[in-house]
Amino acid sequence: MLSDANLEILFTKARSHKSWLNKEVTEDQIDQIYNLLKFAPTSGNCCPARFTFIKSDEAKERLMPTLDKGNIDKSMNAPYVVIISYDTEFYESLSILSPHNDAKAGFIGKKIKSKIPPSLILLFRAHTL
Ligand SMILES: Cc1cc2nc3c(=O)[nH]c(=O)nc-3n(C[C@H](O)[C@H](O)[C@H](O)COP(=O)(O)O)c2cc1C
Repeated sequence: MLSDANLEILFTKARSHKSWLNKEVTEDQIDQIYNLLKFAPTSGNCCPARFTFIKSDEAKERLMPTLDKGNIDKSMNAPYVVIISYDTEFYESLSILSPHNDAKAGFIGKKIKSKIPPSLILLFRAHTL
């Protein structure tokens, strides 16, 4: 079990933030975050999520028209914005991700449906890095 202090950081005292410190987020920190989140469990180890890390002003400008008005300022000012989408052909990797059964065959030719939107925008909590 995690300590109370760690549980507070992760859950009970964790809060969403709307503004950011003027502090660089390094690529090494992005690697560390990705190398943790990639272990999150998924159904049958399908790992369908794809993460696009956006940093440059140019890339953020391209993203802007897709954002809800209330999310524009905080996205433009965040050190990074991450688009989380899913690969509709994720099953192509199942021979590696789930080699113990023939899971790929169950998905071929079927329309992949999701209850979540194709992309969710996550704003980085730079203060926690
Ligand atoms: C349906 C739903 C949609 C939300 N959409 C946004 C959003 O687009 N942008 C945003 O900054 N917060 C959004 N929020 C709020 C945050 O995700 C979060 O729930 C809220 O800030 C809770 O604060 P906490 O993390 O400090 O407990 C949404 C919350 C809900 C329940």
